[in-house]
Amino acid sequence: MIGVLVSGNGSNLQALIDAGLPVSAVASNRKDAYALVRARSAGIPTATFALDCHADRAERDLVMATWLEEHGVELVVLAGYMHLLTEPFLKRFPERIVNVHPSLLPAFPGAHAISDALAAGVETTGVTVHYVDAGLDTGPVIAQEAVPVEPRATLEERIHAVEHRLLPKVVSDICLAVR
Ligand code: GRF
Repeated sequence: MIGVLVSGNGSNLQALIDAGLPVSAVASNRKDAYALVRARSAGIPTATFALDCHADRAERDLVMATWLEEHGVELVVLAGYMHLLTEPFLKRFPERIVNVHPSLLPAFPGAHAISDALAAGVETTGVTVHYVDAGLDTGPVIAQEAVPVEPRATLEERIHAVEHRLLPKVVSDICLAVR
């Protein structure tokens, strides 16, 4: 079973759902994330774990990890989740957390990868799916796909299209490998 962490629109969550992957729980740090609407429409249990409801980030992450485990989650996918995970969470899902990021890591980590690539004037950027560690978009790379920057006007759209294909493929491969 897959648990997905989200903070925003949730188009990558939608791609996982549309691929027929077994998503059993969706958690967010923001109660207004549109991704939660997508999850509920698909009949998937959701919960919000806002930082201001907990003593600190580590305690929030522990409570969130427990909720995911209660929903049978064995693999965690970060799909536009905008907080770093703390050790208590990482320890509960060792080597079982993946993230999708809109650049060819280690180039352009962080929350503004697409605009950073445009500002840097590179010819090629892309998409990375990687295992998650305590760092910001660090952790072993599982798959990458390059995307040409030109035409710039459609770069964001083309990157998202690659994400929506690459993330479900990698998650599906991991699920098959552990069966
Ligand atoms: C994606 O570009 C993903 O790579 C990044 O955050 C964005 C999330 O988009 N980590 P969405 O919420 O899945 O639509």
